[in-house]
Amino acid sequence: MIVAIMAPRSGKTSGLAIPAILSAPGPVLLTSNKAANDAFTATVDARAEVGTVWALDPQQIAHHPREMWWDILADARDLAGAKRLAGHFVAASVDESSGSDFWSTAASNTLGALFLAAASHRRPITDVLAWLASPADRTPVDLLIDAGHDAVAAQLQGTVSGATETRDGIYETARQYASCLLDPEVAAWVTPNRDLPEFKPLAFATSRDTLYLLSKDGGGSASAIIAAAADAVMRAAVIVAERSGGRLDPPALCVLDEAANVCRISDLPDLYSHLGSRGVIPMTILQSYRQGQRCWGEAGMDALWSAATVKIVGSGIDDADFADRLSRQVGDHDVQTVSVSTSEGGKSTSVSMRTERILPPDAIRALPKGKVLLLATGLRIAMLSIRPWYKEPSAKVIGPASARATKAITERALAKTVGHDDLGLSA
Ligand SMILES: Nc1ncnc2c1ncn2[C@@H]1O[C@H](COP(=O)(O)OP(=O)(O)OP(=O)(O)O)[C@@H](O)[C@H]1O
Ligand SMILES: [Mg+2]
Repeated sequence: MIVAIMAPRSGKTSGLAIPAILSAPGPVLLTSNKAANDAFTATVDARAEVGTVWALDPQQIAHHPREMWWDILADARDLAGAKRLAGHFVAASVDESSGSDFWSTAASNTLGALFLAAASHRRPITDVLAWLASPADRTPVDLLIDAGHDAVAAQLQGTVSGATETRDGIYETARQYASCLLDPEVAAWVTPNRDLPEFKPLAFATSRDTLYLLSKDGGGSASAIIAAAADAVMRAAVIVAERSGGRLDPPALCVLDEAANVCRISDLPDLYSHLGSRGVIPMTILQSYRQGQRCWGEAGMDALWSAATVKIVGSGIDDADFADRLSRQVGDHDVQTVSVSTSEGGKSTSVSMRTERILPPDAIRALPKGKVLLLATGLRIAMLSIRPWYKEPSAKVIGPASARATKAITERALAKTVGHDDLGLSA
């Protein structure tokens, strides 16, 4: 179970994500906010040789044609699943610190109730948007009662018939959280479609397929969908592992590149403790410890950090406390100092021992690019050189493949703008 912290442009994707994907023996999941000349292009050809490539690209990061759909409501048919799905939409929009105020909590509960109403009657996610737009619509309350969720129905009814300002505030907040689904191009990826193959997380766990989850960052982006899909895949993998003797063999690799930007799974720290013993290998890649704290809170980030059995810290660590903590963990060593003094009787030499940090905090902060500290359970901290894919012999094949895939993205993007010109749609 891996957590890596390395500054921007320090080789996280080329030195960690891509080599891990290229050598993965089983299914692979990748989250990312980049496509061209990044992990997607460098691995898509190689992965297509071993299994099916699924790309969930709702915001067209790779301009990938929509060749699949995934049922975002599949896990929302019980209350816990519906709440978790609502949680992904909240986490994608607000930082952990403001995710628990009144409006966020109320909006999250409302979203969860609407997801449950839709999911338990196999209604599409677009129905949830319609209900969000008209709070007075009684349909979701009736559907919840029909499905036996009386308590949730009563709670939703309470919100709807409460003070108008409160209700409108809650619904407006919920609409903001779910705003990415307003774009029909985005919603189409997670809405049932008879003409396209459905991505099924349970089947994926025992395949050698690859799922690319791509999204822009920040509020209003489709990152909630990315987080929900990654969460669904990891949970499905655990279920399959439990059914088949405890472990997935070969293991599933889940690379959460840009995790704090596009894959904010709020209970990732808890999830970590379930994954390792099940043959599901998570690799969470962050830019700084602080970025993790903003996403999971201080306690959450500490929990994630301690749940990771392999911790990687690279160059550009700008956090003095974190650098000092690491320096203390690397430990001390005794240094011999020789001092020479001259007196009337002649020269005398004395040798003394002094205790010094092996790696002082400033040296950690100035780690050169390509060097990382490895903190693995049961081992002393080691300094490693990472080997980016482009310095490996296989770069002869991967390099041109990545260039081809990048060119294909550009061509697809151009084809679209040309299409728009023809229709007179471009600015
Ligand atoms: N194919 C390549 N050939 C040579 N150098 C490369 C290649 N790909 C990346 N690099 C170098 O590696 C550096 C880091 O790239 P990489 O994308 O792996 O970093 P990152 O930490 O993932 O960055 P980001 O924070 O933007 O995601 C780049 O600035 C570039 O100098
Ligand atoms: Mg990167």
